[in-house]
Amino acid sequence: MIEVKDLQVKYDDFVAIDNVNFEVKEGEFFTLLGPSGCGKTTTLRSIAGFIKPSNGSIEVKGKNIIQTPVEKRGLGMIFQSYALFPTMSVFNNIAYGLKIEKYSKAQINERVMELADLVELNEEQLQKNVSDLSGGQQQRVAIARALAKRPNIVLFDEPLSNLDAKLRKQLRAELKRIQRETGMTAIYVTHDQDEALEISDHIAVFNNGKIEQIGTPREIYDRSATEFVCKFIGEANFLETPFMTYLNEQTTGTPFNLNARHYIREEKIKLWVNEDSKAIPVQATVLDEVFYGTFSTYICEAYGTTLRIIVKEDGNTPMLDKKAITLYIDPYDILEYGG
Ligand SMILES: Nc1ncnc2c1ncn2[C@@H]1O[C@H](COP(=O)(O)OP(=O)(O)O)[C@@H](O)[C@H]1O
Ligand SMILES: [Mg+2]
Repeated sequence: MIEVKDLQVKYDDFVAIDNVNFEVKEGEFFTLLGPSGCGKTTTLRSIAGFIKPSNGSIEVKGKNIIQTPVEKRGLGMIFQSYALFPTMSVFNNIAYGLKIEKYSKAQINERVMELADLVELNEEQLQKNVSDLSGGQQQRVAIARALAKRPNIVLFDEPLSNLDAKLRKQLRAELKRIQRETGMTAIYVTHDQDEALEISDHIAVFNNGKIEQIGTPREIYDRSATEFVCKFIGEANFLETPFMTYLNEQTTGTPFNLNARHYIREEKIKLWVNEDSKAIPVQATVLDEVFYGTFSTYICEAYGTTLRIIVKEDGNTPMLDKKAITLYIDPYDILEYGG
């Protein structure tokens, strides 16, 4: 559906993004994830048509749109700042684009009601001035307005960043629902890993103007392709050489390269395993434990390595009031970089 090929954008001499390649399938939720300044907005604005790339192409359904002006690309756009008309009613904000396109009054009415329903704004709110709504409600208006003309593709640039944590979580789930219900293709920019994992079909992880990995949330998290992705997407324990040497002595599989750097995610270390498990037992000392309700964390020490372990409190947790315990590590869960 959308194919970005060899995209490069320069601001004067500064190369903001380079060699950016990805493909977005029809109806999917595709996320550009990365820290501030890595080139997410630059990429999105190139797709929107606000920026002219210095190299590469952007194809929509096989047609290169690089020369197509913004208004002819037929995309919906939603930004961090709502960019609404503050003195207009909610209704008129949502209806704005439809009025310009000279839809009939009845058509406009019907479409606005449909959209209000979709983003869960009620009739009373539709009559209010936008400035009288909360941030979360204003963002619902912005979403409704962007969807008014039924764009096939909708671009989102950190639309939830200005909202407080609780509202952000709620709207996240709603955005996903809206995307599914409308069948739109979404390209979504965020620096928030949890957000990306929760709502995306595929994620492209950006670092320094380049893509480090593209994959499903599970692939990005479980099989992080680079050390940067591994550390950016979630917490991971660094495994020191004595630890890896011990694992190599125990394993029946291919030994690890001791010149490489190794990590394991906190929740992949187990305190118990099934009998047929290939996990390697590791004797460890418990230094600290903290109970969080649904899970607990343990700080342990083994073979010169400090490990933080997350254990779900599901009623099967062994009593851990002892100082010496056995941890189980499945070699498959170890991520190896460099070397
Ligand atoms: N208009 C501009 N002029 C010069 N440099 C810019 C401009 N916009 C962005 N940049 C630079 O390009 C890089 C990528 O920026 P941006 O795409 O906004 O990153 P992100 O959205 O991931 O935070 C940054 O180093 C930023 O400072
Ligand atoms: Mg940005």
